Amino acid sequence: MKKSKKKLLVTGGAGFIGSNTALYFSKHGWNIHIIDNLSRKGSKDNLLNLKKNIDVNFYKIDTSNFSKISKVIKKIKPKLLIHCAGQVTVTKSVTNPRNDFNSNAIGTFNILEAIRLFSNKTKFINISTNKVYGNVSNKKVFQGKNRYGFAGKMKSINENYPLDLYSPYGCSKGIADQYTRDYSRIYDLDTVVVRLSCIYGTMQYGIEDHGWIVWLTIKSYFGKKIKIFGDGKQVRDALYIDDLVKLFLKLSKSKKNKNKIYNIGGGIKNSMSLLELIEILDKKMNKKNKFKKFNWRPGDQKIYISDISKIKKEHHWSPKINVHQGLDKVINWIHKNELNIKKLLKP
Ligand SMILES: NC(=O)c1ccc[n+]([C@@H]2O[C@H](COP(=O)([O-])OP(=O)(O)OC[C@H]3O[C@@H](n4cnc5c(N)ncnc54)[C@H](O)[C@@H]3O)[C@@H](O)[C@H]2O)c1
Repeated sequence: MKKSKKKLLVTGGAGFIGSNTALYFSKHGWNIHIIDNLSRKGSKDNLLNLKKNIDVNFYKIDTSNFSKISKVIKKIKPKLLIHCAGQVTVTKSVTNPRNDFNSNAIGTFNILEAIRLFSNKTKFINISTNKVYGNVSNKKVFQGKNRYGFAGKMKSINENYPLDLYSPYGCSKGIADQYTRDYSRIYDLDTVVVRLSCIYGTMQYGIEDHGWIVWLTIKSYFGKKIKIFGDGKQVRDALYIDDLVKLFLKLSKSKKNKNKIYNIGGGIKNSMSLLELIEILDKKMNKKNKFKKFNWRPGDQKIYISDISKIKKEHHWSPKINVHQGLDKVINWIHKNELNIKKLLKP
C-alpha cells in the first residue's frame, strides 16, 4: 500500500519564510497546505512561484478569523504546522496597533485554540522574534567606529535573558510566544518557539521596515540612495533562509523540543552592522553606495546577537552559509527577477 504523505500546514506560506519552508518540505516529500491573506507586497509573486514549482493547496484566509482557520485545521489535521503569518514591522505596529494585535496575538491564539480543539496531535512551531527581549537594556554597549558591541563577557543573548516586550509588535509577538509555551504546559500540546534574529534570502521582498539585508541589497543593486534610521552602527546576526528551513525539518523529526524555546540566528560569526553591510555591498557591486541618515525608529535595538548554543547543543544544528555566500545568492536572485523586484521600489 502506498504510504500517504505527511501533511504540513504553513501559515504565511506566501511570505518569505513560509514560501521557502513550503518549497523545502515539498522537496522532502511532504504534502503542502498554505494559509495566507496575501497582504504582503510580493506574496502573490511567491504564491505563483510555489504553484509553478510544487503541488500546493492554498487557502486565502486571515488568521484573525477563528471560524475559517479552525475549519481548515480540522479538515487537514496536519502533522506539522509552522506559523509564519503575521504583521511583521515595528513601524506599522506603532501606526496601527489594533491590526498588529489582531494579526499576531489573536491570530496565534486562534491557531492554538484550533489545534487544541480539533487536531491535538499536530506539532506546532511558532515563529517568534528577538524583539521579545526589548532593547536588551540590561547589557552595557560600547560604540566602535562602524558598529556597536556588547561590553563585558557575554557577547550574545541567550534564552534566559529577561523578556521586555517593547513596542506593540514586541507585545503582540511576545503574547504569541508565551501562549505557545503555555499551551504545551497546560494542554500538553507539542509546541516549540523559535525566536528569530534577522533572516534573509531569496523570495524575500524586502521593504524599508522589514528585511533590511535584502532591502539594502536591492537598493544598492538598482543604484538607489539608501536610507539609514539611526547612526548605522546597529548590529544584528544574520541567518540565511536555507539554514533556517533545514532546522525546521530537524525540529519536525525530533521529540526533544516539546515546550522548548530557542534563539535562532547566524550568531556572532555572522553579525554585522548596517554600515558594515554597505561596505560589503560597495565591494560586491563595485560601486560606492550613497546613503543618508534619519532619526532612530522606536524600539530599534542598538545591538542584538543570538546566542545559538542551546540549539547547537540539543539539535546539532549550526549555520552553514556565511554572510558573503548568502549575499551572493541574494544578488543572483535579484538579477534573475529584476522586473518583479523593481516594482517594490515604486511607492
Ligand atoms: N524575516 C525575519 O528576519 C524575521 C525575524 C524575526 C521574526 N520573523 C517572523 O517570522 C514570520 C514570517 O516573517 P517573514 O519575514 O516571512 O514575513 P513576510 O511578510 O514575508 O510573510 C508573512 C506572510 O504572512 C501573511 N500574513 C500577514 N498577516 C496575516 C494574517 N493576519 N493572516 C494570514 N496571513 C497573513 C503575509 O501576506 C505574508 O505572506 C513573522 O511572524 C515574523 O514576525 C521574521
